[in-house]
Amino acid sequence: MVGISSRPGRRTVVGLTCAAVVLLASGCAKGVESPSSGAPPAGGGKQEVAQSGERGPNCSSAQYGAPMLDLTKATVGFSQSESTSNPFRATETQSITDEAKRLGIKLIQRNANANVPQQNTDIQDMIAQGAQVLIVAPENSDGLAPAFAAAKAKHIPVLTIDRTVNGTACSDFIGFIGSDFLGQAKIAADDLAGALGGQGNVAVLQGTSGNNVATDRTNGFNQQIAAKYPGIKVVAQQTANFDQATGQKVMEQILQSNPDVTGVYAQNDTMALGAIQAIRAAGKTPGKDVKVVAIDGTEQCVRNVADGVMVADVETNPRFGPLAFQSLQRFYSPEGVPGTVLISDHHFTSANAADALKNGDVY
Ligand code: AHR
Repeated sequence: MVGISSRPGRRTVVGLTCAAVVLLASGCAKGVESPSSGAPPAGGGKQEVAQSGERGPNCSSAQYGAPMLDLTKATVGFSQSESTSNPFRATETQSITDEAKRLGIKLIQRNANANVPQQNTDIQDMIAQGAQVLIVAPENSDGLAPAFAAAKAKHIPVLTIDRTVNGTACSDFIGFIGSDFLGQAKIAADDLAGALGGQGNVAVLQGTSGNNVATDRTNGFNQQIAAKYPGIKVVAQQTANFDQATGQKVMEQILQSNPDVTGVYAQNDTMALGAIQAIRAAGKTPGKDVKVVAIDGTEQCVRNVADGVMVADVETNPRFGPLAFQSLQRFYSPEGVPGTVLISDHHFTSANAADALKNGDVY
Protein backbone atom coordinates (compact mmCIF):
# COMPACT_ATOMS: atom_id res chain seq x y z
CA MET A 1 0.00 0.00 0.00
CA VAL A 2 1.34 3.35 -1.00
CA GLY A 3 3.28 5.08 1.71
CA ILE A 4 2.29 2.77 4.55
CA SER A 5 4.96 0.77 6.30
CA SER A 6 4.35 -2.27 8.48
CA ARG A 7 7.88 -2.22 9.88
CA PRO A 8 8.24 0.01 12.92
CA GLY A 9 10.83 2.68 12.52
CA ARG A 10 10.89 2.27 8.75
CA ARG A 11 9.73 5.12 6.62
CA THR A 12 9.10 5.44 2.90
CA VAL A 13 10.47 8.64 1.46
CA VAL A 14 10.19 9.03 -2.28
CA GLY A 15 10.12 11.86 -4.71
CA LEU A 16 11.65 14.39 -2.35
CA THR A 17 12.95 17.52 -3.92
CA CYS A 18 15.24 19.93 -2.16
CA ALA A 19 13.83 23.41 -2.49
CA ALA A 20 16.08 26.16 -3.67
CA VAL A 21 15.69 27.64 -0.26
CA VAL A 22 16.69 31.22 -0.06
CA LEU A 23 15.04 32.26 3.16
CA LEU A 24 15.84 29.57 5.67
CA ALA A 25 18.76 27.34 4.91
CA SER A 26 17.30 24.34 6.72
CA GLY A 27 15.39 22.96 3.96
CA CYS A 28 15.49 19.59 2.19
CA ALA A 29 12.77 17.32 3.54
CA LYS A 30 13.69 14.39 5.82
CA GLY A 31 14.72 16.48 8.75
CA VAL A 32 17.68 18.39 7.42
CA GLU A 33 19.21 20.63 10.03
CA SER A 34 18.98 24.35 10.16
CA PRO A 35 22.58 25.55 10.22
CA SER A 36 21.46 28.54 12.21
CA SER A 37 20.09 26.49 15.11
CA GLY A 38 22.20 23.34 14.99
CA ALA A 39 19.44 21.68 17.03
CA PRO A 40 17.84 18.43 15.89
CA PRO A 41 14.40 18.62 14.27
CA ALA A 42 11.40 18.47 16.62
CA GLY A 43 10.81 14.98 17.99
CA GLY A 44 14.46 14.10 17.36
CA GLY A 45 13.55 13.72 13.70
CA LYS A 46 12.83 10.02 14.20
CA GLN A 47 9.05 10.01 14.09
CA GLU A 48 8.33 13.21 12.17
CA VAL A 49 6.10 12.89 9.11
CA ALA A 50 7.89 11.78 5.98
CA GLN A 51 6.72 12.50 2.50
CA SER A 52 5.74 9.51 0.37
CA GLY A 53 4.50 11.31 -2.71
CA GLU A 54 3.37 14.61 -4.12
CA ARG A 55 0.94 15.90 -6.72
CA GLY A 56 1.33 19.25 -8.38
CA PRO A 57 1.06 21.72 -9.77
CA ASN A 58 3.41 23.56 -7.45
CA CYS A 59 2.59 26.93 -5.96
CA SER A 60 5.17 29.60 -5.19
CA SER A 61 4.75 32.95 -3.46
CA ALA A 62 5.12 34.66 -6.85
CA GLN A 63 2.31 32.55 -8.37
CA TYR A 64 0.04 33.00 -5.35
CA GLY A 65 0.72 36.72 -5.17
CA ALA A 66 2.16 36.75 -1.65
CA PRO A 67 4.88 39.23 -0.82
CA MET A 68 8.34 37.69 -0.31
CA LEU A 69 9.32 37.42 3.32
CA ASP A 70 11.97 35.98 5.57
CA LEU A 71 10.17 33.24 7.50
CA THR A 72 12.54 33.59 10.43
CA LYS A 73 11.27 37.12 10.91
CA ALA A 74 7.62 36.38 10.12
CA THR A 75 4.65 35.81 12.38
CA VAL A 76 3.06 32.44 11.59
CA GLY A 77 -0.45 31.58 12.81
CA PHE A 78 -1.48 27.99 13.58
CA SER A 79 -5.16 27.06 13.81
CA GLN A 80 -5.85 23.71 15.54
CA SER A 81 -9.33 22.32 14.92
CA GLU A 82 -9.94 19.92 17.80
CA SER A 83 -9.24 19.44 21.50
CA THR A 84 -5.78 18.33 22.52
CA SER A 85 -7.39 15.73 24.80
CA ASN A 86 -7.01 13.56 21.67
CA PRO A 87 -3.31 12.53 21.54
CA PHE A 88 -3.36 13.10 17.76
CA ARG A 89 -4.19 16.78 18.31
CA ALA A 90 -1.82 17.22 21.25
CA THR A 91 1.08 15.74 19.25
CA GLU A 92 0.25 17.78 16.16
CA THR A 93 0.15 21.05 18.11
CA GLN A 94 3.37 20.15 19.94
CA SER A 95 5.15 19.33 16.68
CA ILE A 96 4.22 22.68 15.06
CA THR A 97 5.14 24.55 18.24
CA ASP A 98 8.49 22.76 18.67
CA GLU A 99 9.55 23.26 15.07
CA ALA A 100 8.64 26.97 15.08
CA LYS A 101 10.70 27.34 18.24
CA ARG A 102 13.63 25.40 16.78
CA LEU A 103 13.64 27.67 13.73
CA GLY A 104 13.22 30.84 15.78
CA ILE A 105 9.88 31.65 14.12
CA LYS A 106 7.23 33.62 16.02
CA LEU A 107 4.14 31.42 16.27
CA ILE A 108 0.68 32.44 17.44
CA GLN A 109 -1.99 29.78 17.78
CA ARG A 110 -5.64 29.03 18.58
CA ASN A 111 -7.71 25.88 19.20
CA ALA A 112 -11.32 25.83 17.95
CA ASN A 113 -12.33 22.69 19.89
CA ALA A 114 -14.30 21.23 16.95
CA ASN A 115 -16.37 24.38 16.49
CA VAL A 116 -16.32 25.57 12.87
CA PRO A 117 -17.55 29.16 13.49
CA GLN A 118 -14.92 29.40 16.23
CA GLN A 119 -12.20 28.26 13.81
CA ASN A 120 -13.30 30.99 11.38
CA THR A 121 -13.00 33.52 14.19
CA ASP A 122 -9.64 32.10 15.31
CA ILE A 123 -8.12 32.46 11.84
CA GLN A 124 -9.47 35.99 11.36
CA ASP A 125 -8.23 36.97 14.83
CA MET A 126 -4.74 35.76 14.00
CA ILE A 127 -4.80 37.74 10.74
CA ALA A 128 -5.82 40.83 12.75
CA GLN A 129 -2.98 40.06 15.16
CA GLY A 130 -0.46 40.20 12.33
CA ALA A 131 -0.11 36.60 11.08
CA GLN A 132 1.68 36.75 7.71
CA VAL A 133 1.47 33.01 7.02
CA LEU A 134 -1.09 30.47 8.25
CA ILE A 135 -0.94 26.74 8.95
CA VAL A 136 -4.47 25.37 9.38
CA ALA A 137 -5.67 21.95 10.54
CA PRO A 138 -9.25 22.37 9.24
CA GLU A 139 -12.29 20.96 11.06
CA ASN A 140 -14.28 20.51 7.86
CA SER A 141 -14.10 20.99 4.11
CA ASP A 142 -16.54 23.81 3.44
CA GLY A 143 -17.11 25.76 6.64
CA LEU A 144 -13.90 27.78 6.71
CA ALA A 145 -14.53 29.61 3.43
CA PRO A 146 -14.97 33.04 5.16
CA ALA A 147 -11.63 32.79 6.99
CA PHE A 148 -9.80 31.52 3.89
CA ALA A 149 -11.31 34.35 1.83
CA ALA A 150 -10.09 36.86 4.42
CA ALA A 151 -6.57 35.41 4.17
CA LYS A 152 -6.68 35.45 0.37
CA ALA A 153 -7.83 39.07 0.32
CA LYS A 154 -4.68 39.97 2.25
CA HIS A 155 -2.43 37.68 0.13
CA ILE A 156 -1.68 35.58 3.20
CA PRO A 157 -0.68 32.02 2.24
CA VAL A 158 -2.56 29.20 3.99
CA LEU A 159 -1.05 25.70 4.22
CA THR A 160 -3.53 23.00 5.30
CA ILE A 161 -2.42 19.94 7.23
CA ASP A 162 -4.14 16.62 8.10
CA ARG A 163 -7.49 17.53 6.44
CA THR A 164 -8.28 19.26 3.17
CA VAL A 165 -10.62 22.14 2.39
CA ASN A 166 -12.61 22.52 -0.81
CA GLY A 167 -11.28 25.10 -3.22
CA THR A 168 -8.44 25.59 -5.68
CA ALA A 169 -4.79 25.11 -4.78
CA CYS A 170 -2.66 28.23 -5.24
CA SER A 171 -5.77 30.36 -5.08
CA ASP A 172 -7.80 29.47 -1.96
CA PHE A 173 -4.86 27.82 -0.16
CA ILE A 174 -1.29 26.94 -1.15
CA GLY A 175 -1.18 23.19 -0.51
CA PHE A 176 -2.09 20.23 1.69
CA ILE A 177 0.02 17.74 3.65
CA GLY A 178 -1.60 14.58 5.03
CA SER A 179 -2.16 10.82 4.99
CA ASP A 180 -3.64 8.54 2.33
CA PHE A 181 -6.98 8.14 4.12
CA LEU A 182 -8.53 5.85 1.50
CA GLY A 183 -5.48 3.56 1.71
CA GLN A 184 -5.63 3.53 5.52
CA ALA A 185 -9.25 2.37 5.43
CA LYS A 186 -8.50 -0.42 2.96
CA ILE A 187 -5.77 -1.75 5.25
CA ALA A 188 -8.16 -1.59 8.21
CA ALA A 189 -10.73 -3.56 6.17
CA ASP A 190 -8.15 -6.25 5.34
CA ASP A 191 -7.10 -6.45 9.01
CA LEU A 192 -10.65 -6.81 10.29
CA ALA A 193 -11.76 -9.26 7.62
CA GLY A 194 -8.62 -11.33 8.26
CA ALA A 195 -9.27 -11.44 12.01
CA LEU A 196 -12.87 -12.50 11.35
CA GLY A 197 -11.87 -15.22 8.91
CA GLY A 198 -13.86 -13.45 6.20
CA GLN A 199 -17.23 -13.90 7.98
CA GLY A 200 -19.13 -11.63 10.34
CA ASN A 201 -21.26 -8.61 11.14
CA VAL A 202 -19.36 -5.37 11.39
CA ALA A 203 -20.11 -1.94 12.89
CA VAL A 204 -18.42 1.22 11.65
CA LEU A 205 -17.86 4.23 13.92
CA GLN A 206 -17.40 7.17 11.60
CA GLY A 207 -15.58 10.43 12.23
CA THR A 208 -17.17 13.86 12.19
CA SER A 209 -19.05 14.34 8.94
CA GLY A 210 -18.20 17.03 6.40
CA ASN A 211 -14.48 16.39 6.02
CA ASN A 212 -12.37 14.34 3.63
CA VAL A 213 -10.91 12.15 6.39
CA ALA A 214 -14.22 10.62 7.51
CA THR A 215 -15.46 10.42 3.91
CA ASP A 216 -12.35 8.61 2.62
CA ARG A 217 -12.16 6.34 5.64
CA THR A 218 -15.79 5.31 5.04
CA ASN A 219 -15.45 4.87 1.29
CA GLY A 220 -12.12 3.02 1.44
CA PHE A 221 -13.44 0.51 3.98
CA ASN A 222 -16.74 -0.11 2.20
CA GLN A 223 -15.04 -0.43 -1.20
CA GLN A 224 -12.56 -3.00 0.11
CA ILE A 225 -15.24 -5.06 1.89
CA ALA A 226 -17.47 -5.02 -1.20
CA ALA A 227 -14.58 -5.98 -3.49
CA LYS A 228 -12.95 -8.71 -1.42
CA TYR A 229 -15.06 -10.00 1.46
CA PRO A 230 -18.57 -11.24 0.50
CA GLY A 231 -18.95 -12.88 3.94
CA ILE A 232 -18.60 -9.59 5.84
CA LYS A 233 -21.76 -7.54 6.37
CA VAL A 234 -21.66 -3.92 7.54
CA VAL A 235 -24.75 -3.92 9.81
CA ALA A 236 -24.30 -0.47 11.39
CA GLN A 237 -22.52 2.68 10.30
CA GLN A 238 -22.85 5.75 12.48
CA THR A 239 -20.88 8.88 13.30
CA ALA A 240 -19.28 9.25 16.74
CA ASN A 241 -17.51 12.52 15.90
CA PHE A 242 -13.94 11.26 16.46
CA ASP A 243 -14.81 11.36 20.20
CA GLN A 244 -14.36 8.73 22.91
CA ALA A 245 -17.50 9.39 24.99
CA THR A 246 -19.64 9.54 21.84
CA GLY A 247 -17.93 6.37 20.59
CA GLN A 248 -18.92 4.58 23.77
CA LYS A 249 -22.53 5.78 23.60
CA VAL A 250 -22.95 4.95 19.91
CA MET A 251 -21.36 1.52 20.38
CA GLU A 252 -23.70 0.77 23.31
CA GLN A 253 -26.70 1.52 21.09
CA ILE A 254 -25.29 -0.53 18.23
CA LEU A 255 -24.72 -3.54 20.49
CA GLN A 256 -28.28 -3.29 21.79
CA SER A 257 -29.79 -3.35 18.31
CA ASN A 258 -27.15 -5.69 16.83
CA PRO A 259 -25.98 -8.11 19.56
CA ASP A 260 -24.49 -10.31 16.84
CA VAL A 261 -21.79 -7.74 15.91
CA THR A 262 -18.40 -9.45 15.82
CA GLY A 263 -16.25 -6.69 14.37
CA VAL A 264 -15.76 -2.94 14.82
CA TYR A 265 -13.96 -0.50 12.56
CA ALA A 266 -13.39 2.78 14.40
CA GLN A 267 -12.20 5.61 12.17
CA ASN A 268 -9.93 6.92 14.92
CA ASP A 269 -8.37 5.67 18.15
CA THR A 270 -10.42 7.70 20.61
CA MET A 271 -13.66 6.19 19.23
CA ALA A 272 -12.04 2.72 19.43
CA LEU A 273 -11.39 3.28 23.14
CA GLY A 274 -15.04 4.23 23.63
CA ALA A 275 -16.16 1.16 21.66
CA ILE A 276 -13.98 -1.10 23.82
CA GLN A 277 -15.61 0.33 26.97
CA ALA A 278 -19.05 -0.40 25.50
CA ILE A 279 -18.09 -3.93 24.44
CA ARG A 280 -16.88 -4.67 27.97
CA ALA A 281 -19.98 -3.10 29.52
CA ALA A 282 -22.08 -5.47 27.38
CA GLY A 283 -20.28 -8.40 29.00
CA LYS A 284 -18.21 -9.21 25.93
CA THR A 285 -14.45 -9.46 25.51
CA PRO A 286 -12.79 -7.21 22.92
CA GLY A 287 -10.27 -9.19 20.90
CA LYS A 288 -12.24 -12.39 21.46
CA ASP A 289 -16.00 -11.85 21.05
CA VAL A 290 -15.63 -8.60 19.11
CA LYS A 291 -12.57 -7.76 16.98
CA VAL A 292 -11.61 -4.07 16.83
CA VAL A 293 -9.47 -2.18 14.30
CA ALA A 294 -8.81 1.56 14.30
CA ILE A 295 -6.78 4.36 12.76
CA ASP A 296 -4.27 6.75 14.42
CA GLY A 297 -1.46 4.81 16.15
CA THR A 298 -1.74 6.28 19.65
CA GLU A 299 0.21 4.63 22.44
CA GLN A 300 -2.91 3.34 24.21
CA CYS A 301 -4.32 1.64 21.13
CA VAL A 302 -0.99 0.21 19.97
CA ARG A 303 -0.68 -1.23 23.49
CA ASN A 304 -4.14 -2.74 22.98
CA VAL A 305 -2.86 -4.33 19.77
CA ALA A 306 0.19 -5.73 21.59
CA ASP A 307 -2.11 -7.08 24.34
CA GLY A 308 -4.58 -8.69 21.91
CA VAL A 309 -7.43 -6.32 22.84
CA MET A 310 -7.35 -4.84 19.32
CA VAL A 311 -6.48 -6.48 16.01
CA ALA A 312 -4.53 -3.64 14.38
CA ASP A 313 -4.06 0.12 14.24
CA VAL A 314 -3.12 2.09 11.12
CA GLU A 315 -1.08 5.18 11.94
CA THR A 316 -1.99 8.75 11.10
CA ASN A 317 1.23 10.58 11.86
CA PRO A 318 0.48 14.01 13.37
CA ARG A 319 4.11 15.19 13.66
CA PHE A 320 3.78 17.76 10.86
CA GLY A 321 6.09 20.47 12.23
CA PRO A 322 9.30 19.89 10.24
CA LEU A 323 7.59 19.09 6.91
CA ALA A 324 5.11 21.97 7.29
CA PHE A 325 7.85 24.55 7.72
CA GLN A 326 9.97 22.97 4.96
CA SER A 327 6.91 23.27 2.71
CA LEU A 328 6.58 26.96 3.56
CA GLN A 329 10.23 27.38 2.65
CA ARG A 330 9.51 25.74 -0.71
CA PHE A 331 6.60 28.14 -1.19
CA TYR A 332 8.97 31.09 -0.80
CA SER A 333 11.39 29.62 -3.37
CA PRO A 334 10.93 29.56 -7.17
CA GLU A 335 10.16 25.80 -6.95
CA GLY A 336 6.98 26.26 -4.90
CA VAL A 337 5.04 23.80 -2.76
CA PRO A 338 3.05 20.89 -4.31
CA GLY A 339 -0.75 21.07 -4.18
CA THR A 340 -0.81 17.75 -2.29
CA VAL A 341 1.93 16.09 -0.26
CA LEU A 342 1.13 12.58 0.99
CA ILE A 343 2.94 11.18 4.01
CA SER A 344 3.89 7.62 4.92
CA ASP A 345 2.30 5.98 7.96
CA HIS A 346 3.07 2.90 10.03
CA HIS A 347 0.79 -0.11 10.23
CA PHE A 348 0.71 -1.64 13.72
CA THR A 349 -0.25 -5.31 14.07
CA SER A 350 0.37 -8.06 16.63
CA ALA A 351 3.62 -8.74 14.74
CA ASN A 352 5.20 -5.34 15.41
CA ALA A 353 3.17 -3.49 18.09
CA ALA A 354 5.46 -4.42 21.01
CA ASP A 355 8.55 -3.30 19.06
CA ALA A 356 6.82 -0.07 18.06
CA LEU A 357 6.09 0.69 21.71
CA LYS A 358 9.72 -0.05 22.61
CA ASN A 359 11.05 2.08 19.74
CA GLY A 360 8.88 5.05 20.63
CA ASP A 361 7.11 5.06 17.25
CA VAL A 362 3.77 5.77 18.93
CA TYR A 363 2.36 8.99 20.39
O1 AHR B 1 -7.84 14.48 10.67
C1 AHR B 1 -7.20 13.45 11.35
C2 AHR B 1 -8.14 12.76 12.32
O2 AHR B 1 -8.75 13.74 13.12
C3 AHR B 1 -7.49 11.81 13.29
O3 AHR B 1 -7.54 10.48 12.89
C4 AHR B 1 -8.39 11.97 14.47
O4 AHR B 1 -7.91 11.37 15.65
C5 AHR B 1 -8.63 13.41 14.47
O5 AHR B 1 -9.66 13.87 15.23
